[in-house]
Amino acid sequence: MSIDVSTAQGVLTLSLNRPDKKNALNKLMYQQLVQQLQQAAQNDEIKVVLLQGSAECFSSGNDLADFLQSGELNDAHPTVMFLYEMAKFPKPVVAAVAGLAIGIGTTVLLHCDLVYSTADCRFQLPFTQLGLCPEAGSSLLLPLLIGQQRASSMLLLSEAIDGNEAYRLGLVNQLVDKENLLEFALSKAKKLSALPADAVQSSKKLMKSGSAVKQAIELELADFSRLLKGPDCQQVIAQFFKR
Ligand code: COA
Repeated sequence: MSIDVSTAQGVLTLSLNRPDKKNALNKLMYQQLVQQLQQAAQNDEIKVVLLQGSAECFSSGNDLADFLQSGELNDAHPTVMFLYEMAKFPKPVVAAVAGLAIGIGTTVLLHCDLVYSTADCRFQLPFTQLGLCPEAGSSLLLPLLIGQQRASSMLLLSEAIDGNEAYRLGLVNQLVDKENLLEFALSKAKKLSALPADAVQSSKKLMKSGSAVKQAIELELADFSRLLKGPDCQQVIAQFFKR
């Protein structure tokens, strides 16, 4: 298993656990995440999901080797299923983010409700560097959250920001020391879990506009699929593994 699963006091903790690849997300991990989210959505005992990596590393993004052999990015693809599952997930999701949040490691946070990170965490969306375009609804959600120009420096120039900047821009709720991050995020998840579940879920539903996000994901996937097969992307990824 590359996703560790535990439950306590109504909180389902999903921990990315592939340290040798800096928690790059591969197809199997997406499948595990989708299965866990689908079960959690149906299970009244689960009130909150906590998504985390380790105290050292959240995620280096989509597995680049998988990108090279990704197949059709249709609704049955594990990555695509994960994106839709996150976008429509009815219960609150808390994220604890340290070290690296690259690609989907950052875009997934746009679907989380509370995000805690370390100050030195690196947030980066290197899609254009890879010959790709935004995914996970980030073309819609990131400009809405941090403003068009700042989103452009991340999504067009592929420039990274650190946790301090992410906090300043509103991508992160609070900065926490590495030593305390996972415990702190869990305490916030438990606090949410202790609140009346119907009230929390209704409040989340009212704050999220699902249909626009779904449409953005669909539009992005059309370009993303084309670019993924293009020469720029194939060349950059092949180069990454030749280092
Ligand atoms: N997919 C697949 N493997 C990855 C990966 C990814 N996204 N990110 C890191 N890895 C692997 C490396 O190939 C390496 O494997 P190896 O030890 O078998 O050679 C291992 O994880 C450690 O990575 P390394 O590059 O040595 O660590 P680093 O600390 O020097 O750099 C990163 C970390 C994340 C900056 C760098 O690995 C990187 O740029 N990765 C790609 C990020 C990316 O483009 N993600 C997709 C976004 S859409």
